[in-house]
Amino acid sequence: MSELQFKRHRRLRRTDSMRALVRETHLRTEDLIFPIFVVEGEKVKNEVASMPGVHQVSLDHLTEEMNELVDLGIRSVIVFGVPGEKDEVGTQAYQQEGIVQRAIRQIKQDTPSLTVVADTCLCQYTDHGHCGVVRDGEIVNDESLHYLTQTAITQAEAGADIIAPSNMMDGFVAAIRQGLDEAGYSQIPVMSYAVKYASSFYGPFRDAAHSSPQFGDRRAYQMDPANRLEALREAESDVEEGADFLIVKPALAYLDIMREVKDRFNLPLVAYNVSGEYSMIKAAAQNGWVNEEEIVLEKLTSMKRAGADLIITYFAKDAARYLNK
Ligand code: PBG
Repeated sequence: MSELQFKRHRRLRRTDSMRALVRETHLRTEDLIFPIFVVEGEKVKNEVASMPGVHQVSLDHLTEEMNELVDLGIRSVIVFGVPGEKDEVGTQAYQQEGIVQRAIRQIKQDTPSLTVVADTCLCQYTDHGHCGVVRDGEIVNDESLHYLTQTAITQAEAGADIIAPSNMMDGFVAAIRQGLDEAGYSQIPVMSYAVKYASSFYGPFRDAAHSSPQFGDRRAYQMDPANRLEALREAESDVEEGADFLIVKPALAYLDIMREVKDRFNLPLVAYNVSGEYSMIKAAAQNGWVNEEEIVLEKLTSMKRAGADLIITYFAKDAARYLNK
């Protein structure tokens, strides 16, 4: 028989310890950022209907939630506020006594080892549900920057370690960076939602945060899912404006974009594994259609393989439990 010429890739897959030896990508609990929804009121711990296992909590439940994260080895949280009142210009977003500002102060006081990321947006706080100020049916850019900068400054005052603007107005990194610097917070980094697509994967989040737009949609400020070069332009301008981290959002359907952003820019890259990506797996797992543990670890690992250094994920606690086994 003549010699067949081929490579034996299976040599490195033969045993579990051999596979561990050649594994290229590692997921760690320190990579995970857990999103938390804080609401006004007392004794509230509401499970979000479309996000099994995710709760809105009032401040009296917040510390126990944060202690759970610390016990699991999770080191960072991103805080979303669900205010009691909304108005045209999102006033509750930039009050010292706003729900997010109080939550941040409490976390820094009770669980100071956690890194607190503040989501900086107006959509939970405006009565029209858009991420900026509306004039004549349009979301106006530059006026919105003023309110967003105020929001970021009050979050930094409350003790936020990182400001994460998610509003997709042009110039938000430049405006917030300047505002933070002038207010004495030059040491606080900006984690920019640099590449944020107008995505149907955000549906369950809008239930959790009560932030659905009351008219129209977000396509005049969030990006068209069909576009790749536009993502690079967005990332480039945020780098120029002084961003310290870049977020690509959503994650699963945009791994190609993540890889390109990672290869071009030398900043820590964050994947936002969004609500719809969570809910789809939870629903399938509840039906017994997929193995939840395996699929969660597979998809979080795929984000790291695509270049993400950090992952914002509602699966953070589940994943930490799997990793700690
Ligand atoms: C606020 C914001 C949204 C998400 C994070 N910050 C909603 C949106 O843009 O509609 C979505 C997160 C998720 O779906 O998990 N602008």
